[in-house]
Amino acid sequence: MPTTDNENYYFYFSTIDIEKIDPSPYQLRKYFDEEKLRELGASILQDGLIEPVIVRPHKKDRFQLIAGERRLRAIKDYTDFSVIQAKIAEVDDHKARRIGAAENILREDLSAIETIEATIKIIDVEIGEIDKTLTVGKTPLERVHKLLSKLDSIWVSRDRGSRVSKEADDLFYKFIEQVELIFKNLPKPLKWRSFLLNDLNLLTDIAPNVQRISVKHGLNKAQTKAIARLEQVSKVDFNKVAQKGTILVQGRQNNLLPDPKLNEISAREIRIFTERLEKENKIKEQQKEEGQREFPIEIKAAVMTRLGIPNVRIAKRLNIHRQTISNYTRKTNDRFFKKIDQAFKSRVSVHDIAKTYSVPQALVWSQVLKEKTDQERFKALNWGLRTWDQWNFNDVDKRFGDPWPGRIPAQLVAHALFYFTKQNDLVFDPMAGGAVVADTCLAFNRRCWSFDLSDRLNARPEIEPFLWDPENLTWPIKTDKKPDLIFFDPPYFKKMADHYMKGSISDFSKPRYLNFFKELFFLIKENSKPSTHIAFLNADFRDFQGIPASDEDPENAILILEYAKLLEQSGWKITHLIDTPLSTERFTGNMVKRMQEKRTLGIIRRTLIIGKPVIYR
Ligand SMILES: C[S@@+](CC[C@H](N)C(=O)[O-])C[C@H]1O[C@@H](n2cnc3c(N)ncnc32)[C@H](O)[C@@H]1O
Repeated sequence: MPTTDNENYYFYFSTIDIEKIDPSPYQLRKYFDEEKLRELGASILQDGLIEPVIVRPHKKDRFQLIAGERRLRAIKDYTDFSVIQAKIAEVDDHKARRIGAAENILREDLSAIETIEATIKIIDVEIGEIDKTLTVGKTPLERVHKLLSKLDSIWVSRDRGSRVSKEADDLFYKFIEQVELIFKNLPKPLKWRSFLLNDLNLLTDIAPNVQRISVKHGLNKAQTKAIARLEQVSKVDFNKVAQKGTILVQGRQNNLLPDPKLNEISAREIRIFTERLEKENKIKEQQKEEGQREFPIEIKAAVMTRLGIPNVRIAKRLNIHRQTISNYTRKTNDRFFKKIDQAFKSRVSVHDIAKTYSVPQALVWSQVLKEKTDQERFKALNWGLRTWDQWNFNDVDKRFGDPWPGRIPAQLVAHALFYFTKQNDLVFDPMAGGAVVADTCLAFNRRCWSFDLSDRLNARPEIEPFLWDPENLTWPIKTDKKPDLIFFDPPYFKKMADHYMKGSISDFSKPRYLNFFKELFFLIKENSKPSTHIAFLNADFRDFQGIPASDEDPENAILILEYAKLLEQSGWKITHLIDTPLSTERFTGNMVKRMQEKRTLGIIRRTLIIGKPVIYR
């Protein structure tokens, strides 16, 4: 006997043949997790169907599904039942769509995307009831989106006090109350603007593959937005996460527990994971770019010529004839430098000029700043000039030097050049690494001879391969020319031991490390002139990690004082001590907290020791 429920429609319960049920024409759901369907089938086999599906009479002797597609599929595919318990409702199209959508919304395990889709279906049905001509569009999403966007733009204009056409005003007044009412009467009431701005955009702005994953893993709104960002940052990592159904969250790994499911990982954790990935990818990309850095041979020759490297050495390094270098110089002038000047005059950025003509940025700077004073160069590079003996910079300037372990800020080098050299002076860099010193010298019109044990002929022909061998310390060039400044940035004691090549002093024992410097300082002094300055960069080494400051073993430490003493013992007079602190950004909040708990005193002070040869009168 048909009964009526609180929604005033007739229904009765019956057991019907599953083959007689036709699918719902309103089912938007595209994804069904087979694993979950299998589980549902097993549970129905064991405990029976707890909630009947809802159908309505359809054609002759057949039914149309209104709600319960998952249950029906589970029974069809994973049980041997041929009948199903059903609530048979006698409803029209409108009511059928509403019941189907409302059932969905009230399900607890529904993902944000499915909830929004179901909400849209109800709104679409209700709006259609108000006025069939009101909305245009092929799908409920298109229709609802168009109407709400229109109402919203009128709402915003009115709110701002802008003039609104009479037609728009009429439309607004005609429908706003009804739309508000529809949203108020939803199974889970909402505000229409908040739905438009915070929910609906999940369907309009997020890629379909992300939506699918969000549904599959039952993600909420914030998680879906976070995972969409991940997909934008890295398709590869998004696919991996989608496939594994989890994310390796830092601090959450626990061998005893299974990995958390994707919907158990908070949006914040997904965002942190994405941000880390973004940073790593940027570095990798940059490294790839730098690793592949190779310029035409005439550009390599131009860089080396501008750095004042003698022609014999350029010829040897590039394996060309000396005469060829002068031919190149003529050619590069017309082919590159004139064009660089023109492009710069037309306000093309240095970065773009470097890319267009395939020349290093530092060489472009050297050209475009040609006639400038040092102060003008600081300004053009957007660097503030420090007047006092504390030079702190938040970060390295990526325009200068390569991503190299221990890379220093070019601003630091520029300040040393500013205070202790003049334009066209000769700078000597015995351990050049990523060539920040050479690049800065180009930008500041200083000559520069660089050496390092790693040989990167293609990327950095201007750095000559040379090993400062403690067993046999020799000067790399036979020449009368003496440098005006030696900018010496060695590997700090015990740091970066794994990063540099074999032969690096970074893994020397303490006595060997100190003795190496003593002898090298002496050799440098022998190859200097009275006006030469040495700028030696280093930091205190204290074995502080995980140890309270008062328990540190001073025998293990090398303070900056010791280098100063060695310099003095090797014939140098210290003239300046400049603080060039490391940025604290590399310490995370957790690290700082742990250090404070242990009373560990970290090191960020780095010192540039400036010295001059002692002149005995
Ligand atoms: C701190 S890095 C220089 C970084 C550089 N100033 C920059 O900003 O890119 C020190 C360099 O010293 C080099 N080095 C270490 N021991 C050396 C040795 N015995 N002879 C030559 N170079 C050495 C390493 O290869 C490394 O590139």
